[in-house]
Amino acid sequence: MTLYKLTYPYTWEERKPCLHEGVLFIPPHYDQHTSWTLPSWEEIFGNQNPVHIEYCTGNGTWLAEKAKDPSVNWIAVEKRFDRTQKIWSKKRTKRLNNLLVVYGDAHIFIKDYMKDHQVDEVYVNFPDPWPKLKHAKNRLFQQEFVRHLARTVRPHGCLTVVTDDAVYSHQVMDEVLENPSWGSFFASPHYVTSLEGYGTSFFEELWRQKGKEIRYMKFIREES
Ligand SMILES: C[S@@+](CC[C@H](N)C(=O)[O-])C[C@H]1O[C@@H](n2cnc3c(N)ncnc32)[C@H](O)[C@@H]1O
Repeated sequence: MTLYKLTYPYTWEERKPCLHEGVLFIPPHYDQHTSWTLPSWEEIFGNQNPVHIEYCTGNGTWLAEKAKDPSVNWIAVEKRFDRTQKIWSKKRTKRLNNLLVVYGDAHIFIKDYMKDHQVDEVYVNFPDPWPKLKHAKNRLFQQEFVRHLARTVRPHGCLTVVTDDAVYSHQVMDEVLENPSWGSFFASPHYVTSLEGYGTSFFEELWRQKGKEIRYMKFIREES
C-alpha cells in the first residue's frame, strides 16, 4: 500500500497546536495547550454523528476497518509520528473523511483538548503494559486518565480495553472500577477472551500468533 508522507506544519521553534491535512498536531515539549481551542465535532466532521475514539492507535489497522462505516466519526490518538503517518496514510488511501488523526499524547489530548461528555465510545487496544515496576508510572490506566475518561464519555457510553498482559488487565480493571462513574459490562472476572466481530489490530495478530490469551474488558459510563 502507498505510504503518503505527512509533513510537520511548523518548525520546532514555531510549534503550536493546529489542524493540518486532517491531523490535529499537538506539539511535544510545549506548555500553551489551553491557549488553543479545538473546534466542535460538527465543525471538524460536518455532521452530528456519534464520535468514537481510539487511544494508542498504533498504525491504525483496527480503526481503518471500523471507520469504513461513515455513520460514526472516529478519532485516532497516537504519540509516535511514524505511526501517525501510517494512520493518516490509511485515511487518505481509504478516503476516510470521518476520521480525525491526532498526533499527540493521550494524557495531554484528554486533559487539555477534550470537553465534557463529548464522546460515545472509547477504545484502547493493547496499551503499552510497561511490565517493569520502575516503569509502572508510564502506564496509561491510572486514576487521572480514568477520571478524564469519565468526564469526556457521555452517560451510557462505553470504554473497551484489550490487552494480552494479564497483570495489566487487573490494573485496568482495578483503576477503572475504583471510579464510581464506571461499571463492568462483563460479569466477574470482568473480561472475555474472544469477542465476535471485534476486529483485529497489528498487535492482536502478533500476540495471537505467539499463543497469548487476549483479554477484552468493557466498561459502561454510569448516569452520574
Ligand atoms: C502496543 S502498541 C498498540 C498499537 C495498536 N493499538 C495495536 O493494537 O496494534 C501501543 C501504542 O500506543 C502508543 N502510545 C503509548 N502511549 C501513548 C500515549 N500516552 N499517547 C498516545 N499514544 C501512546 C504507542 O506509540 C504505540 O503505538
